[in-house]
Amino acid sequence: MSGPKTHQQPVTALDEEQVERAVSAALTAIAAADSLDALKHVRLDHSGDRSPLALANREIGSIPARERAAAGRLIGSARGRVAAALNTRKEQLEAERDARMLAEEAVDVTLPVERRPPGARHPLQLISERIADVFVGMGWEIAEGPEVEAEWFNFDALNFDPDHPARQMQDTFFVDPVSSGLVLRTHTSPVQARTLLERGVPLYVACPGKAFRTDELDATHTPVFHQVEGLAVDKGLTMAHLKGTLDHLAAAMFGTDVVTRLRPSFFPFTEPSAEMDLRCFVCGGQEATCRTCGGTGWIEWGGCGMVNPNVLTACGVDPQEYTGFAFGMGLERTLMFRHGIAEMRDMVEGDVRFSLHYGMEI
Ligand code: DAH
Repeated sequence: MSGPKTHQQPVTALDEEQVERAVSAALTAIAAADSLDALKHVRLDHSGDRSPLALANREIGSIPARERAAAGRLIGSARGRVAAALNTRKEQLEAERDARMLAEEAVDVTLPVERRPPGARHPLQLISERIADVFVGMGWEIAEGPEVEAEWFNFDALNFDPDHPARQMQDTFFVDPVSSGLVLRTHTSPVQARTLLERGVPLYVACPGKAFRTDELDATHTPVFHQVEGLAVDKGLTMAHLKGTLDHLAAAMFGTDVVTRLRPSFFPFTEPSAEMDLRCFVCGGQEATCRTCGGTGWIEWGGCGMVNPNVLTACGVDPQEYTGFAFGMGLERTLMFRHGIAEMRDMVEGDVRFSLHYGMEI
């Protein structure tokens, strides 16, 4: 699209009216140009080399000398007006373009950005740390032991008979080959023997950690679960110290109005042994048909007892001089009672919404 448009009338340099018409045609086209691109074409048409005014300008040389000056002024001023109008319109269109670009490309820095979804610490990890804090607050040490454990620490050192049912394949994950003598620890209790041997007496140690049993995953069981093991060995420790310690932990976990009881039980590594039960949170012991406690009014929290003298002896401690108490509470159970979680599977599925719901305490 270059060169004069066909509808433009040729202009004679001396004809004022023709010049005026050419100027006003140019001014109308300039005003109508709605983009810089359109204006470029208008410029070519009305002020380019082949525009009527430019062609008329060329004629000036060939007209009689006495009329030349007037013709020059006439065409000169006409071309000047067109050039000025072109420039003004160009500036306007440039300003409009700049304003439009600023508006279109503007970034609103106050808009919320797409963040990565926030994560959350797992509530089991949090409760484990919370329990560790309770024991640190009483001056206890925190210990860890290996999850792949020697059978000797997991069973023998803890006074399990060679034919104890827990040693059978259907309960315990044995590490291949069985002759390796290694198992995935079935409880955190082997840390008792390890810490006694490593640190000696007197000893006050708590060990939160993972344990493994060949259970199917269901609402109340998981093959990988967590316990916190506790062991205190000192001169003159009694069952009263055990009860006081666990009551303190229960109050820290469930509130000071929690009601506990010790119920006689059996573990090879404690004598006497007990289970610590909590008053049922759901029925408070009032409902014979309660599904949470099975109508007993109590729910089991963990095992405990006075350390069996055989364990002390196996770990080089004189049972005539020292006594000890020990306990192992389930962390999943603690979390379930504390927050009313009914489904064990929610804890292991790894859905971040579960952790966000329970895991945001600091
Ligand atoms: N290890 C036992 C279990 O997993 C729990 C337990 C019972 C731990 C008595 C203890 C204890 O330290 O003294 O079922």
